[in-house]
Amino acid sequence: MGLVVLGEDDFNFLKKYIYSLLGIYMIPAKRILVQNRLQNRLKELRMRSFNEYCEYISSTEGKDKETKHFINAITTNKTDFFRDPEQFDNLKDKILPEIIEQSKKNEIVIWSAACATGEEPYSIAMTVKELLTRDKHINKHIKIIASDISTNALGIAQQGIYSVSKADSISLAYQKKYLLRGQNDKMDLIKVTPEIRNMVEYFVLNLMEDHFDDVCEADIIFCRNVFIYFQNAEIIKVIDNMSKRLLTGGYIIFGSADTIMYSGSSLEKVTGCIYRKKYNK
Ligand SMILES: C[S@@+](CC[C@H](N)C(=O)[O-])C[C@H]1O[C@@H](n2cnc3c(N)ncnc32)[C@H](O)[C@@H]1O
Repeated sequence: MGLVVLGEDDFNFLKKYIYSLLGIYMIPAKRILVQNRLQNRLKELRMRSFNEYCEYISSTEGKDKETKHFINAITTNKTDFFRDPEQFDNLKDKILPEIIEQSKKNEIVIWSAACATGEEPYSIAMTVKELLTRDKHINKHIKIIASDISTNALGIAQQGIYSVSKADSISLAYQKKYLLRGQNDKMDLIKVTPEIRNMVEYFVLNLMEDHFDDVCEADIIFCRNVFIYFQNAEIIKVIDNMSKRLLTGGYIIFGSADTIMYSGSSLEKVTGCIYRKKYNK
């Protein structure tokens, strides 16, 4: 079967569907991207047209069986270890020591929302491990939770196996401590050590949910490079919901490429992409 072309009407249908399901806004220029990403789904389902696929995903059976595959095909899970590296230095040298000192709880929670294939939460885990090794007097447990809507991405995250080129953004000192090299026919792969993997708990979460009441309260939230796909109304909704899960004095860290136009009253801006939950006056 050759390439199936996505016409304008079906693209408009899918565009609305993606927006209502994921909050992701597909501009007209994304038609070819949507067409290409769904080719394998059509092939798998032996469908010859996008019209047939659109009808299927709107049906009860399609909603039940296809939504997960659709989300996996449509989402962009591009990420790297230590993306925006200065944010991890900031976490280790300022944010986390401050939270540890101020918190009256025995456990500090860091949440990587929209964690994609795991490089972000593992970068957090390596950073935390470094801090705990450096400051032996820290007697709090640091829990790292990580969520995404893509079950495929979460599957890769849980395995913690990546191509060797992914190690390029990890310092040599961290590579030695926190990565295992593949042997023989797996020479082109690296694996995050079990010690680091076991520090992260993964779960599925759609950031478009009406609330995040099932997520435990967090001291620090990373929400990076997902708002680039959202419109302002969705960004505000997600930040409002996240701020409800953030403890007073806690931080939300956005990506340096994210445009945040947020004026809600519970958060104050610390720097361009870091916000903090205000203390009640
Ligand atoms: C570009 S990746 C960013 C990964 C990582 N945070 C980083 O900065 O490198 C964006 C992630 O957002 C996820 N995503 C998109 N829409 C989402 C939604 N509505 N709910 C939860 N995750 C979503 C995608 O599956 C993808 O893994």
